[in-house]
Amino acid sequence: MRAIVLTSIDPLCLQEQNVPAPTPGPGQVVVSLRAAALNHRDLWITKGQYSGIRLPVVLGSDGAGVVTALGEGVSSAWLGSEVIIYPSLEWGPDPEVPGPAHRILGMPDDGTLAEQVVVPEANLVRKPAHLSWEEAAALPLAGLTAYRALRRGRLRPGETVLVPGIGGGVSTMVMLLARHLGARVLVTSGSADKLRRAAALGAEVGVCHTEPDWDAQLLARAGRPPDLVVDGAGGDTFARALALVRPGGRVVTYGATLGPARVEVRRIFWKQLDVLGTTMGTPAEFRQMVALVEAGGLRPVVDTTLPLAETASALQRLDRGEQMGKVVLRISS
Ligand SMILES: NC(=O)c1ccc[n+]([C@@H]2O[C@H](COP(=O)([O-])OP(=O)(O)OC[C@H]3O[C@@H](n4cnc5c(N)ncnc54)[C@H](OP(=O)(O)O)[C@@H]3O)[C@@H](O)[C@H]2O)c1
Repeated sequence: MRAIVLTSIDPLCLQEQNVPAPTPGPGQVVVSLRAAALNHRDLWITKGQYSGIRLPVVLGSDGAGVVTALGEGVSSAWLGSEVIIYPSLEWGPDPEVPGPAHRILGMPDDGTLAEQVVVPEANLVRKPAHLSWEEAAALPLAGLTAYRALRRGRLRPGETVLVPGIGGGVSTMVMLLARHLGARVLVTSGSADKLRRAAALGAEVGVCHTEPDWDAQLLARAGRPPDLVVDGAGGDTFARALALVRPGGRVVTYGATLGPARVEVRRIFWKQLDVLGTTMGTPAEFRQMVALVEAGGLRPVVDTTLPLAETASALQRLDRGEQMGKVVLRISS
């Protein structure tokens, strides 16, 4: 089968190769992928900025396709089903934290940037009928992270949530889910065009985070501070989120694209803040997220769709921060 294999630490070392098609072990299935999607994680790995890198590997955590082979003990009802893939492997027994064997599909285990992938039967969820293959492939990792972040942040209808860097795959999903749950959404972006697109998707206030006083502008335009911030940027953005959020508010962090933060610790205790970390999510949260997307008719924001063979240039789009939402790879029709 065709697969995009990372052979050494360099985004340009993502080469299409012919590799043996995978065979399912007991409890596993083969999914023939129609589409896959990129995450910032793939970029971190190609740059060597991720722990436990093992090469060569087929990257890719997001995928949607058709079940075409079953391992021993798998229900025959799955054969021919259209599915999306839960991207965590072996979360473990505790819903609050993943166990020591937890892994994310697409390193060290071979992932979805290929014609076929092997996953446990337990990782299959039926594809919502209203989603195209591209939208279905865009949903898993970003949707799961966004859903758990909002759950950890205890978002309630009518509250105001700030989502910095709205161009990101996760942040666009945070915005869609928060709007669906009845929240007001404030956003920032480095791009005026992305702010316009966020407004069309329901963001009430948007400011450009390249302006030195973006936080003051945001407060002035929103009229009151956010109850919740869901941040994947880290760095100075995370530090300012602690200042921006209302007293008694919550700040959920799931990423550090900008690197470490210099935090004014006193803000956290004087303002009685809850600072919460989150990573991925449980199998139950994944099913709940997909059910919410299905019930609400929500569609993940797809930025671009490129053929699988153009994965390296798709990843460069992420590296330049040009995307609004998810960059998707088309695998077969
Ligand atoms: N913990 C987890 O489970 C988990 C899951 C998924 C992702 N992550 C992490 O979360 C981060 C985002 O992942 P992703 O896949 O959504 O990435 P992505 O699609 O590449 O998005 C990154 C976004 O960062 C934003 N950004 C850049 N500079 C910024 C700034 N100064 N202030 C605010 N935002 C800024 C940009 O938004 P604009 O273009 O709008 O400026 C950009 O679109 C990554 O660090 C990733 O490793 C963690």
